[in-house]
Amino acid sequence: MTAIDIDLDYAGAQAAPEPVVRCDNLVHVYGVPGSEVAALRGIDLQVRAGEMVALLGPSGSGKSTLLWHLAGLLQPTAGTVHVCGRQLSTLNNRQLADLRKRDVGVVLQNAGRNLLPYVSALDNVRAVRRELTAEALTPHELLDAVGIGSLAHRAAARLSGGEKQRLAVAIALANLPTLLLADEPNSQLDAASSHDVIALLRDVNTRFGTTIVVVTHDTAVSETMDRTVSIRDGRIGAAGMGGEQFLVVGRDGSVQLPAELNDLLPSGSLLRAEPLDDGSAGVILRRVDGAAPNDAPDHGRHRRPGT
Ligand SMILES: Nc1ncnc2c1ncn2[C@@H]1O[C@H](COP(=O)(O)OP(=O)(O)OP(=O)(O)O)[C@@H](O)[C@H]1O
Ligand SMILES: [Mg+2]
Repeated sequence: MTAIDIDLDYAGAQAAPEPVVRCDNLVHVYGVPGSEVAALRGIDLQVRAGEMVALLGPSGSGKSTLLWHLAGLLQPTAGTVHVCGRQLSTLNNRQLADLRKRDVGVVLQNAGRNLLPYVSALDNVRAVRRELTAEALTPHELLDAVGIGSLAHRAAARLSGGEKQRLAVAIALANLPTLLLADEPNSQLDAASSHDVIALLRDVNTRFGTTIVVVTHDTAVSETMDRTVSIRDGRIGAAGMGGEQFLVVGRDGSVQLPAELNDLLPSGSLLRAEPLDDGSAGVILRRVDGAAPNDAPDHGRHRRPGT
């Protein structure tokens, strides 16, 4: 049954080569004691070399936080992150900077943060470039590919929001990274420019085997990816492959039911989980008749002393 196949595939249990990205029970809590926000609540994620993965999820679900961890820009509250075989929390700042320079290209959500404002678009790309093999795209080719070749000599600060986003993608790809991390690289782009950017990502993925993790709200983008990973409330709830959506069982056994089942199974519902009796791998969740939400059997928990 597919549930088993997906589970093994998802966990990369049989994959011999080390994945490019591996998060194990990654937890991130922002803030100070008393006003914490648990942004990531135990993320298990593997991305294999050459995969293109879209990170989906509602606003505030933890997508950017996860991407920042993959870029080595945050320290986990708990759990580990491996990128290109190295556990990020064991690296010092110089080693992390080196990893970002050589192996990981990053496009942050606010494109302006990726740029040197008073330097031309072309020099922004050149600034991060190191010695590369001849096959890599040149700075001019990169700017052309994202559709801002004619703006090569304009200062980055004088580019529009969408043009900055496209420049940020060109910069992130300039070093032919093993892993490209892009946080909504097309949120300010019209359909045509967005298409150019995604076509470029697909092109570098095909030509150079670049592994790509891209956060997006755009279904036109996620549909072009090999796999989608959906985050809700800091957990991976679903994965999409081959046009189909699957739920992902967490390491604590939890499953995030799709929102469209909320009416059938509201929060607090009592369910009976019954293995399928035909021997195939799977369970049926049956709501216990008559159970109203939050109407759990009272074992004295709610009774005040003396009542
Ligand atoms: N620096 C911070 N300090 C405190 N809380 C934060 C900080 N950054 C993010 N958060 C909180 O962490 C949670 C996850 O935020 P994150 O930015 O990762 O979400 P997101 O999925 O990227 O959302 P969006 O789609 O709006 O970009 C949210 O509740 C957010 O308010
Ligand atoms: Mg975000």
